[in-house]
Amino acid sequence: MTPKSVRVTGWGMYAPERRLTNADLERVVDTSDEWIVSRTGIRERRIAARHETTATLAAIAGKRAIAVAGLEPDDIDVILVATLTPDYWMPSTGALVKEAIGNTRAAAMDVSAACSGLVYGYSIADAYLRTGMFKNALVVGSEVLSRYLDFSDRGTCILFGDGAGAVVLSASDEEGGGMQGVELTTDPDGAYMIWLPSGGSRSPATGQTLARGEHYIRMEGRETYRYATKTMATTALKAIERAGWKPEDIDLFIPHQANVRIIESVAKGLGLPMDKMFVNLDRYGNTSAASVGLALAEAVDSGRIQIGDKIVLVAFGAGLTSGAIALEWTADPLCGRRADSVEPVASVREPVDWASVDPIPERLRQVLEREGPPVTVDDVAPGEPEPARHEMPV
Ligand code: ACO
Repeated sequence: MTPKSVRVTGWGMYAPERRLTNADLERVVDTSDEWIVSRTGIRERRIAARHETTATLAAIAGKRAIAVAGLEPDDIDVILVATLTPDYWMPSTGALVKEAIGNTRAAAMDVSAACSGLVYGYSIADAYLRTGMFKNALVVGSEVLSRYLDFSDRGTCILFGDGAGAVVLSASDEEGGGMQGVELTTDPDGAYMIWLPSGGSRSPATGQTLARGEHYIRMEGRETYRYATKTMATTALKAIERAGWKPEDIDLFIPHQANVRIIESVAKGLGLPMDKMFVNLDRYGNTSAASVGLALAEAVDSGRIQIGDKIVLVAFGAGLTSGAIALEWTADPLCGRRADSVEPVASVREPVDWASVDPIPERLRQVLEREGPPVTVDDVAPGEPEPARHEMPV
């Protein structure tokens, strides 16, 4: 039977305890707190502990979202984990999360749309539920970006952080609420503006690719910035129009938390004041697929969202992708308190007969222990792998 609506019934987030401040980064790359704050708005970001992975972060946020929805793990029919930093290329992080949250019956898979992943995942889950195929979906965005960053490249390492955000969507027999308009775009013209060169079938990982640091994220910051400021407002506007709304009808935007200047330009493009934009990137940096879910959970739990509010989730990311969902909020924000019952721990199955490696790359370890010597800036041009100019620990 097809439902009358598909609504957000649960939300949850998890951010690792360890904070990495701009002052900490000043010790490893040629940057300053003043530069980072004025160009991005970021003050600190979280870094996953040795025992944590994308799956464990996702499981905690997911369990919290399920508790908030008033459901049991086995009530979830489908699990979608949006990430660009999976635990492994296979199995999917979704499969690991399924077991870690104690679910025995859901279909589980990953969504690869970079920072737009949570929005893409939401739209997929919504479509499943609207057909009547499933009743409850868990959509999680989770990232451990710190292990994919070159901590000698000041153009990227200052931007990103680790975290997870989740929503539960449920089919409802009541009319109204939930997603009213959606827009999803993919523009491969910018495919190499944000990319990770090696480890895929085009360039399998070898000792040489590792030595060249091709297992780290590369980004053309200025070009990405230009794309983001153009696309975020137009993507949001399309979703708003499809809902039959106008920008001024929107109570709160939950934008991807990449750079406060990008968010300011979205507000300007839509003719709206900044108080309509939720911002928490000062405390978490850019957590890619986790960003919108993490921000949504914080917005609800801090009283910024009420029943009946019109909300827009909007993101852009590698691909280049963008996505926006205009939705009507129907859940009681006080249900967020149920997340307090979920401890911030998750256990993900370890491989059998496999000597586990230390997941913290050498350069990140140096950053965390604050004992790394100052290193020279690596301004590798995105689009063309080139030999590294310094010894890259692997
Ligand atoms: N500290 C100090 N100086 C720096 C730093 C730093 N961390 N990084 C760059 N600079 C320098 C540059 O070398 C340059 O110096 P120059 O003028 O001598 O050449 C100068 O600062 C200006 O550099 P720009 O790149 O023009 O700086 P900009 O104002 O564009 O800010 C930034 C850079 C923050 C990266 C910005 O371009 C940005 O936010 N871009 C979008 C990135 C983004 O959102 N990426 C996420 C995509 S989502 C995903 O899917 C993963």
